Amino acid sequence: MTKQIISHKAEQFTESVIREMTRQAHLYGAINLSQGFPDFPAPEELKLAACDAIMADINQYAITWGAKNFRDAIAEKSSWYLGMEVDPEREITVTCGSTEAMLASLMAIVNPGDEVIVFEPFYENYGPDAILSGATPRYVTLHAPDWSFDTDELQSAFNDNTKAIIINTPNNPTGKVFSRSELEEIAALCHRWNVIAITDEIYEHILFNDKKHIAMATLDGMRDRTITINGLSKTYSVTGWRVGYTIAPPEITLAIRKVHDFLTVGAAAPLQEAGARALRLPRSYYDQLQADYSTRRDRILPVLKEAGFKCFDPDGAYYVMTDITAFGYVDDVEFARFLVKEIGVAVVPGSSFYHEPQLGRAQVRFTFCKRDETLRAAEERLQKLASLMG
Ligand SMILES: Cc1ncc(COP(=O)(O)O)c(C=O)c1O
Repeated sequence: MTKQIISHKAEQFTESVIREMTRQAHLYGAINLSQGFPDFPAPEELKLAACDAIMADINQYAITWGAKNFRDAIAEKSSWYLGMEVDPEREITVTCGSTEAMLASLMAIVNPGDEVIVFEPFYENYGPDAILSGATPRYVTLHAPDWSFDTDELQSAFNDNTKAIIINTPNNPTGKVFSRSELEEIAALCHRWNVIAITDEIYEHILFNDKKHIAMATLDGMRDRTITINGLSKTYSVTGWRVGYTIAPPEITLAIRKVHDFLTVGAAAPLQEAGARALRLPRSYYDQLQADYSTRRDRILPVLKEAGFKCFDPDGAYYVMTDITAFGYVDDVEFARFLVKEIGVAVVPGSSFYHEPQLGRAQVRFTFCKRDETLRAAEERLQKLASLMG
């Protein structure tokens, strides 16, 4: 008897294009402006806190839904930064990165036949997340240049089968920061159709142009129907620590905690202790983080424009989406391959952010969470591109 060894779910999605671009960057010795991880050190205080925790023998399983000290710190920070009062005993689950937080959340609420609305271009994990949890994704386009959505398109994505809508603000890959009125429009539809909002707010502190981060859960009536997802990766430059969390109403939290327990048992115990230290850093830390990212953003935008890219200037997160039409390539993947091999700069092809690859054929994404010398080296190489294009 022949057996289908690979699951239908696993067959439905490909390997991560973003992580693949990082491997290609290593292969060709390219400057890696593809995957969003900083190449500068994490704050000294956090590194010491992690070492302290290990030396203090915090080396065994933490409570499955998160060490108390860390959950308390999450509640404290959510109060001052988001304006949201959270019960650390009943509303927080600590996970292995916000990646697990998203999957555990979807697995906790999705039933066969349920639909999940995803804005596109999207962070590439959301597609496989929907498939793994058994949801049917419905896509709503964010339209360049300001990445706004069309009200009619959004309304027509909601129906009786809609279980959740995923919102990522500040947004990867577009740099969009959802405005209060946009969030209110989405919230009204969530109320009308009894839908859960799952908000990935991992870039909550990386904002430009005086934009403010608004947590969906703080909008009228949304606290009871929002799962807020966050983590240490971006705000504290520790993407390899794999510590994230969800904030959700108690009933949903109970379900998330069960799924999380059987998926991973728990996030690294000493790193949760260090995370508690991180979330209690003084407010000046976040001002400095924002100022540093503003400098990097202002550094890379003219370089890209000079090289011939049309840039969609970001209001938040640490990416620049660009239009590559000027280079005459009809295929973003081919152009990305040319950039990594011949120019020595790795980027992410735009098609990986869309369910129909065609929609991203004229785009590539750069990240700028890098040291000044890395950005300078990329600048030198991209000048070569301008001269090749003549
Ligand atoms: C929007 C978004 N969500 C989640 C993640 C992954 O976060 P974590 O490291 O917490 O799993 C990323 C990483 O690039 C991201 O861009």
